[in-house]
Amino acid sequence: MARATFRIWRGDRGGGKLEDYSTEVSEGMVVLDAVHQIQAESAPDLAVRWNCKAGKCGSCSAEVNGNPRLMCMTRMSDLPLGEPVTIEPMKTFPPIRDLVTDVSWNFAAKRKIKKFKPRPPDAPDGTWRIAQEDVDRVQEFRKCIECFLCQDVCHVLRDHHLHEEFIGPRLLVYAAALEMHPLDIENRLPELRQSQGIGYCNITKCCTKVCPESITITDNAIIPLKERVVDEFYDPVKRLFRAFRG
Ligand code: SF4
Ligand code: SF4
Ligand code: FES
Repeated sequence: MARATFRIWRGDRGGGKLEDYSTEVSEGMVVLDAVHQIQAESAPDLAVRWNCKAGKCGSCSAEVNGNPRLMCMTRMSDLPLGEPVTIEPMKTFPPIRDLVTDVSWNFAAKRKIKKFKPRPPDAPDGTWRIAQEDVDRVQEFRKCIECFLCQDVCHVLRDHHLHEEFIGPRLLVYAAALEMHPLDIENRLPELRQSQGIGYCNITKCCTKVCPESITITDNAIIPLKERVVDEFYDPVKRLFRAFRG
């Protein structure tokens, strides 16, 4: 057992500041355990959102020592305890209170993405035939737990606040899952290029690095979507075809 100092952001939409708390750290503890212990011992009004404590609900996202992390999956033994452990709410979204942020923008932006639209069934009994490799391709995207850590780290949202013009990596993964679905026949490319701002992504891969589900966000979702947009709108043969088609 060792005693450690935690520097936790306390405040609300109106502003806040870091406050120090001290608690015992025991073997096997994660950051969320320490936050709960601080709640129990010295800050009963400290707000923190969590549900599963198993890295699956995506609720406990925060910034630990400046890094976007799930608090329930961040082991205390991996942090240097000789200095205060800083815990702050995600910066890309407005704070509600303490470590809890308002992530509702993500759900509003998600609603604007065109829904799944399957082609007509392949067989008279109303079923489809799809290749396993096409299923495997989108399976990775379905692992997303909507923790929004990728949205938090993306500089387009975090630093440039282009929430109205760019849907961010999480929603590009969602769009990729739909666009690459073997049954889907909807075309989401015009919106991806315009109102959803895929061009703002300059492939820094910061989103991929922080994803707790290890989704290869940039290489497997964003880059293929960018290629489709380029093919659709900048391929000279396709442009000519569209011009003739009127
Ligand atoms: S790769 Fe694109 S989406 Fe991901 S963090 Fe960088 S700019 Fe944002
Ligand atoms: S893509 Fe990864 S980092 Fe982004 S919301 Fe989903 S699980 Fe979280
Ligand atoms: S509490 Fe569910 S992901 Fe951390």
